[in-house]
Amino acid sequence: PATTPFTVPMPLAPELRPVRSTAAFDRYELSVKQADVEILPGQKTPMWTYGGGFLGPVIRARSGRATQVAFRNELPLATNVHLHGSHVDAANDGYPMELIEPGQTRTYTYPNTQQGALLWYHAHSHGTDPEHVYRGQHGFYIVEDPAEAALNLPCGAFDVPIMLRDALFDASNNLVFGGNPADRNVALVNGKPQPYFQVAARKYRFRIVNTATERVFRLSLAGAKIVQIGTDGGLLPAPVEKAELKFSSGERVDVVVDFSQVPFGTGIVLTDATFGPMLRFDVVRRAADTSRVPARLRRLEVLPPATVTREVAIGTDFSQGGPIPVGTINGRPFDHDRIDMTVKRGSTELWNISNADGAYGFTHNFHIHLVQFQVVSRNGGPPAPEDAGLKDTILLPPGDVVQAKVHFTDYLGKYVYHCHFLEHAAIGMMGQMEIVD
Ligand code: C2O
Ligand code: CU
Repeated sequence: PATTPFTVPMPLAPELRPVRSTAAFDRYELSVKQADVEILPGQKTPMWTYGGGFLGPVIRARSGRATQVAFRNELPLATNVHLHGSHVDAANDGYPMELIEPGQTRTYTYPNTQQGALLWYHAHSHGTDPEHVYRGQHGFYIVEDPAEAALNLPCGAFDVPIMLRDALFDASNNLVFGGNPADRNVALVNGKPQPYFQVAARKYRFRIVNTATERVFRLSLAGAKIVQIGTDGGLLPAPVEKAELKFSSGERVDVVVDFSQVPFGTGIVLTDATFGPMLRFDVVRRAADTSRVPARLRRLEVLPPATVTREVAIGTDFSQGGPIPVGTINGRPFDHDRIDMTVKRGSTELWNISNADGAYGFTHNFHIHLVQFQVVSRNGGPPAPEDAGLKDTILLPPGDVVQAKVHFTDYLGKYVYHCHFLEHAAIGMMGQMEIVD
């Protein structure tokens, strides 16, 4: 579908209001339902949504205060919800085999005992979540915390969540699912192809999540300065100046751009290495700016020394000869009846996470539930500065090995880890650990 670039504004996600607030928690209600959504100008596309729009509404949580979210499944199919990046007990984690049947409501309780971060909620039903997420089951969840607020980063209207993903449309504007995800030829920025966003000549914070089921974005801003301040689990120790933001499905980048450095009245285009122009920022007005990006953002916790070392090798097995390969971790596809590793509560482990497809294989990434890990090294060298924060998802180009420190603090039970290229997880690239006393 040919649309003229930069003719529609970038939509902003609505904020979900609590239906009830007590001393201990805020309660939200959200239905999972089919809706006709305008993505291409003047056209309707049927989607599976949270609350009826392309962008699941922002649920804004505060560190240390719990939220309850009651998801009512109005789809004719079973689904479930996982809050990606959350530190939560196993019963509320959206285990891939625990589904919400059509017509049922499931309430998840999130304790928010973690620092400020952009998390996101999405479908996580094993085998079917690629289609659920592709058809629209993705939404923003922001944890705010007082230490972060005290830094005086751009906030309010100048703190903008952005969701990037891809899509393929047929001639009737329906989403095409199946086939090769690489054939998805339209990039959507908050649900629109090539929108514009009018900004003031001042600093903005953009919290960007990649919700494509299988995609690496590589973004640049026409040579303008992008300052990355955060990643998956929250703020980096220190800001990092970036010429390019490279992040894969599930990962978040949190950046500050200062539009007072862009000639007033002009536009500046955010470009992806594959899709080309994605979004144009138009600097159309002046505004006061007392926000700042301090040289130190957040100290990284020093973890206890690791007592266990594990190999976690993510790969693709073509030896079965079927039409699609089998996805594996340490040579085995996911089996929900099997515990792949037993972890002791309170322990710190060193995980060597590798792309076992080798130098000419597929790109993967690695995501673990419950924990924000710390990258120790990549291919034996120091981690890139943007990986030197709290990560829950990390890119694994062919042949790469990432060594990470994983610290298990409080919760017990069964959690999964997987490649977040959802089509890969669906064919088996997933394992599970059990945390025991
Ligand atoms: Cu974002 Cu196990 O998922
Ligand atoms: Cu993969």
